[in-house]
Amino acid sequence: MLHSIDSFIPIVMRTLLSSILVGAMLWSGAAPAQTITIKFSHVVAPDTPKGKAAEKFKQLAEAATKGRVKVELYPNSQLYKDGDELEALQRGAVQMLAPSVSKFGPLGVREFEVFDLPYIFDNTETVYRVTDGEVGQKLMAKLEPKGIRGLAFWDNGFKEFSCSKPLRKPADFRGVKLRIQSSKVLAATVRQLGGVPQVMAFSEVYTAMQQGVVDGAENPISNLYTQKMHEVQKHLTISDHSYLVYAVIVNRKFWDGLPPDVRTALEGAMKDATRYERAIAAKENADALALVKQAGTTEVYALDAKQREEWKQALLPVHKEFESVIGRDLIQSIYAVAAQVEQERRKK
Ligand code: SIN
Repeated sequence: MLHSIDSFIPIVMRTLLSSILVGAMLWSGAAPAQTITIKFSHVVAPDTPKGKAAEKFKQLAEAATKGRVKVELYPNSQLYKDGDELEALQRGAVQMLAPSVSKFGPLGVREFEVFDLPYIFDNTETVYRVTDGEVGQKLMAKLEPKGIRGLAFWDNGFKEFSCSKPLRKPADFRGVKLRIQSSKVLAATVRQLGGVPQVMAFSEVYTAMQQGVVDGAENPISNLYTQKMHEVQKHLTISDHSYLVYAVIVNRKFWDGLPPDVRTALEGAMKDATRYERAIAAKENADALALVKQAGTTEVYALDAKQREEWKQALLPVHKEFESVIGRDLIQSIYAVAAQVEQERRKK
């Protein structure tokens, strides 16, 4: 391409100036600050509590570090799906993830599956007390030898069962194939009800439902709706039988290698993003439920108190079964927090 003499001179001058600048920097020993890129991969849609909080973290982190950090978001399993993403984090192919803690079993850290125990949580307040307290800290510490640092717990509320047939009482689960995450507690829960658990990556669930490979699954409604699973699930039972907890995690070596001021700024951004995630999760799920009802493809059925108690009694043996795997003390410590929260509620 030919340049006119007018446009050519500024280009020459600009090139010369920037060479002088770089030269001066090198001469003075000051290297130009390099942009630090954080690849943040996750498996859900951008318009879920996790997807929105990841976007919030990106905005806050980039602003707080004045552009020294760039956060690249990869939602919807576009980079890695379940199973692959933890490995990618460990080898440094991505720097940040926010997986469901139900997926930590294959890492050899089974204690996180305590969050999967059916009906161990009656309310979100208990979950927050547990994750924000000593239990949360001790669990995150278990990731360190795996080359992973835990930064925060996020959550997506209670999970509900969806299926091609109605699931209203424990006996309805007999022979029903249900997709689960890679957690032995979730597998035992489905088996306890007489169903057939099938571990499968989140990104594959819609197609598996559509093709009848599975009959149903358990999800918070925001995940069900944003993956369009309601289009291929005729029934949804509001069972609130277990809770979906996430851990925001980073590659430990990467994190420890950050300049201290950058790390402090990112920790602040993570705190604020966590507050934001907690503030929106319940509403996102309530809105998704309204949208599922509006779509008219899925019959929604809510368990009443008596039915919930029946399900709970049917599933409690799973707690006992996993005492030796998860640790009796850990399970008991969650019961204690739950009792404390209940006591405080009664006093109000
Ligand atoms: C997620 O919310 O990250 C997905 C959980 C699942 O695999 O069901």
